[in-house]
Amino acid sequence: MGTVFVTQRLPDGGLDPLTHAGHEIRPRAADTPVPHDELCAAAGAADAIVCLLTDRIDAEVVAAGAPRLKVVANVAVGYDNVNVGAASAAGVVVCNTPGVLDETTADLAFTLILAASRRLGEAEADLRAGRWTGWGIGQYLGQDVHGAILGVVGWGRIGSAVGRRAAGFGMEVLHHARCPTGDPGYVGDLDDLFRRSDVISLHVPLTDETHHLVDARRLSLMKPTAVLVNTARGPVVDEEALAVALEAGQIFAAGLDVYEHEPVVHPRLLAAPRTVLLPHIGSASLATRTRMARMAAADVVAVLAGRPPAHPVG
Ligand code: NAP
Ligand code: GLV
Repeated sequence: MGTVFVTQRLPDGGLDPLTHAGHEIRPRAADTPVPHDELCAAAGAADAIVCLLTDRIDAEVVAAGAPRLKVVANVAVGYDNVNVGAASAAGVVVCNTPGVLDETTADLAFTLILAASRRLGEAEADLRAGRWTGWGIGQYLGQDVHGAILGVVGWGRIGSAVGRRAAGFGMEVLHHARCPTGDPGYVGDLDDLFRRSDVISLHVPLTDETHHLVDARRLSLMKPTAVLVNTARGPVVDEEALAVALEAGQIFAAGLDVYEHEPVVHPRLLAAPRTVLLPHIGSASLATRTRMARMAAADVVAVLAGRPPAHPVG
């Protein structure tokens, strides 16, 4: 049986597949990211690591794990925190948790579409702070979501789930991916999508290609009434450029769940008008987080039993 290092406390029952298979679990009883030196030390004494997106699994961790470490299972669908190349070169399998979080994350993205378009953040903050003095015909005027054009960037599992929700809200749905999808509403030119959309929602993975995909130039293509929503990864957007665009009224509003340097939020974004900010809670329902943990644990069981995992990456 193997030894499995688990970097943070996971939802109850999430590690059941490992327990049932008889593996020894070495849990860190903490809710904070594991310090890098601790991670390296633990990697060297484990057959598997179950980690989170806040854990940086770099070449140093992989090297520290050699030759014993067999698998790294990331309890997240995004795996930009893992150096997959270094892992593969060392024969370490990397797994993620696709699919089980699509609907929960799409719900959250749609929450941000609604909240940012209708200025819920500032309206609620004013009410709570006692600044609301009564109904006014010109207060908190937002943008209608029904009848608007949604531009989805990244038409994968989550992006298309957001598109389904948008259709139910009476939106016209356009989407962009690198290759034609065969679905109605495909727009091959990303700049064109930015020009045409009333709401842009980002659902691409973070890669070298998508880093700052939304920069000052792309923001300048958006309508002054348009809304940007990011539930993908923070570095997909140039935060400084976004703050400038919001301050200048170049775009109407933004709804963000992810940030370039989490947990730090750019101070200009914190102060920017018409901006709804959430602390990376896209997949945060108890049921979904439990399913994610079980999926990661099940793939560790498979690899340690010499079987292929169900959700390898790389
Ligand atoms: P997915 O099914 O792999 O979809 C990603 C889509 O992005 C694919 O359609 C892909 O199509 C497209 N894409 C990749 N690179 C692109 C590029 N350079 N330009 C345009 N399109 C590109 O992934 P998913 O499961 O929907 O997850 C998407 C991302 O959401 C994850 O990687 C993660 O970072 C993020 N996420 C965040 C939360 C949260 O809590 N906020 C929760 C879950 C996921 P092609 O490769 O064909 O272009
Ligand atoms: C969350 O951000 C994920 O990638 O699962």
